[in-house]
Amino acid sequence: MIFVTGSAGFIASNFILNHLEHYEEKILGIDTLTYASNIPLLEDLKKNDKFLFFNFDINNSVEIEKLFNKYKPNKIINFAAESHVDKSIFNPDSFIKSNIVGTYNLLKCARKYQSDNFEINTRDFIFLHVSTDEVFGSLEPEEDSSTEHSQYKPNSPYSASKAASDHIVRAFNKTFNLNTIITNCSNNYGPYQFPEKLIPLIINNCLLEKSLPIYGNGLNIRDWIYVGDHCDALKSIIQKGKIGESYNIGGENQISNIELVKHICKLLDKKRPSSNIETYQDLIEFVPDRQAHDKRYSINIEKIKRHTGWSPKKNFTTGISETIDWYLANLNWLEKIKNSDYEQWIRSHYQQ
Ligand code: NAD
Ligand code: DAU
Repeated sequence: MIFVTGSAGFIASNFILNHLEHYEEKILGIDTLTYASNIPLLEDLKKNDKFLFFNFDINNSVEIEKLFNKYKPNKIINFAAESHVDKSIFNPDSFIKSNIVGTYNLLKCARKYQSDNFEINTRDFIFLHVSTDEVFGSLEPEEDSSTEHSQYKPNSPYSASKAASDHIVRAFNKTFNLNTIITNCSNNYGPYQFPEKLIPLIINNCLLEKSLPIYGNGLNIRDWIYVGDHCDALKSIIQKGKIGESYNIGGENQISNIELVKHICKLLDKKRPSSNIETYQDLIEFVPDRQAHDKRYSINIEKIKRHTGWSPKKNFTTGISETIDWYLANLNWLEKIKNSDYEQWIRSHYQQ
């Protein structure tokens, strides 16, 4: 059985959906159900006999220990986190509590559970910590891509909280022989992403004919990976990754924010033309820059390719077009997911 934290979030939901479709192994999910949780999908997933869900925080040791001892999972995947950079700038508190203290708490529970139930230095039990490429900080255009040996240089409270959690995970492996693996992935996109993140926010705003906010000059570069490719990478690491190691995951697909937004606008102009404006690009608005806005992320993925044979499959042109089609076919989902916390945040953030 796999124990999945943050199981109502964007990436974990995609992971669980795919897993339940293709494998018999059961999944036990926990999530504290924050504003970012995908409740409509969670309700559907709960109908599947192979999925069990509990509304618990990763800081709740008592309940987590009970679940470990009752269901005896042999893999833990820690997706749970506060994940939005802008929110961490607005107020870092929940990032420290969930991403740092929460991960530490989960590690303590896992350490006790592993030592009570498994031999050390075997692959019988794995604690996989899902982290981000943002821990390596910002690259200049001419700099080499970040490798697993690059220095940690986080710039936002979000990336600093993820960096701190990575260090604690590493220490639990080195000091207590906990069977950990860390992954550092680049920007994900695909179905079921909460519309606070760039791609679904732009799609949502185009459909509402609201302005498309571009931070700064729009020349910041991100390396986009289709969420299904990230999930496949995690599976290949569970099967073939080395305990105690960390692995970079990325889409080998770098594009500036302004190019990306214009590309989405062009696709929507064809797929769902507006009767009020000639092109959605007319909605683009350059707004004040994000504080400490990282210029460029680029992630070297040679290690995961070498150790597991995984490489990203989804070509970006196809992936982004299919993603837009998915949002257009799921407008109900988009409406349901935007809760009052989200609306309030968007209003305060963009002062609309
Ligand atoms: P998300 O915000 O969509 O989902 C996170 C989920 O975790 C939410 O359902 C939330 O309720 C839950 N959660 C938060 N705090 C919790 C707590 N204390 N206890 C239990 N549950 C809690 O995030 P996502 O985009 O799916 O990201 C998942 C993981 O992947 C995160 O750890 C993130 O740092 C990492 N990551 C994300 C990306 C990306 O592009 N989205 C890229 C690389 C790594
Ligand atoms: O790199 C991996 C990270 O990618 C993950 O660890 C994070 O959880 C995830 O949120 C994402 O972080 P980013 O900050 O890169 O993603 P976001 O979608 O917030 O922003 C992408 C880029 O677009 C970034 O340069 C900021 C810019 N942006 C974002 C928003 C929301 C805008 O220009 N306008 C916007 O309204």
